[in-house]
Amino acid sequence: MEKKRVFSGIQPTGQIHLGNYLGAVKNWVDSQDEYENIFCVVNSHAITTTQNPKELREKTYELAGMLLACGIDMKKSNLFIQSEIDEHPALAWVFDCNISMGEMSRMTQFKDKSLKNPKNVNVGLFNYPVLMAADILLYQADGVPVGEDQKQHLELARNIAQRFNRDFGECFKIPEPMIPKIGARVMGLDEPANKMSKSFNGANHAIFLLDTPDEIMRKFKKATTDSQNSIVFDQKRAGLYNLLNIYEIFTHKDRRKIEDEFEGKGYGVFKTMVAEVVIEALRPIREKYEKLRSQKGYIEEVLNEGANKVRPIAKATYKKAKEFVGLV
Ligand code: TYM
Repeated sequence: MEKKRVFSGIQPTGQIHLGNYLGAVKNWVDSQDEYENIFCVVNSHAITTTQNPKELREKTYELAGMLLACGIDMKKSNLFIQSEIDEHPALAWVFDCNISMGEMSRMTQFKDKSLKNPKNVNVGLFNYPVLMAADILLYQADGVPVGEDQKQHLELARNIAQRFNRDFGECFKIPEPMIPKIGARVMGLDEPANKMSKSFNGANHAIFLLDTPDEIMRKFKKATTDSQNSIVFDQKRAGLYNLLNIYEIFTHKDRRKIEDEFEGKGYGVFKTMVAEVVIEALRPIREKYEKLRSQKGYIEEVLNEGANKVRPIAKATYKKAKEFVGLV
């Protein structure tokens, strides 16, 4: 039987954090054998916010290196840079001409991002979800493994595909969101009401995959919890719940067992133990990245190979879409 195809992407806008890892990248790595995999460093999405060109170029390669260090295996997966394949923005334009302003105006991430950065509310930022739909639909993906914050964007991609197929002819697969049961929304350690994010500046907000063991320990020790003293899974206690979820994912223990383990223990011991499992889980990634970072030639090779392998799929889909709308 043919394997189902998954497509997903990540922006090279800052260091990859525990939210990106648990919500998306870890799942890409863990299910590589099960699917045909296409993963993309979405640098064209990154320029919807202001970027320094030299830094963007560097961050793009760094992120690709990080994904390899996390365990993306080129024998099982294709990894490429979005801007290397011209069909992404080209298909997005075809979609643009078939989406109403009203539908686009409902995208909540656009509203959030515009409020955060009122000086640079550009057309690309508004259009961001359309380019994302093009990324996915070009490759006829069956599934899209992402964190919970991408749910609305995926819904839009599905709507775009369904409408196109209805109005012009069968052209696109309708992709299913693949959102993990735990880890889909990792919260900031300092402010558990907000999701962990690359753009938050607080020193204790996010755990980055390249943080040293000391930094990880310090951040977990300072994590915001509450003044109660039982360590139990209770969604209403957001800070504690977030830490417990992180512990649960890395230890694979069930919830009852975790609660038993921490019965009668205080936050000090608990936070140290969470930090320790995270330090151990991230150690091999950091070590592998240290070896890979100097091998820019190898990373370039991997990315070129990835782009060359997936380009024919993108070209075939775009050609079909052009024919359907009468552009050829
Ligand atoms: P980006 O770079 O913001 O995030 C990459 C992935 O990390 C997930 N994520 C989280 N998961 C759990 N908890 C968090 N705190 C957290 N923060 C981020 C995101 O859900 C995402 O899966 N729009 C995408 C990039 C993109 C894309 C695509 C994804 C462009 N085209 C096509 C899938 C398919 C994004 O913002 O990524």
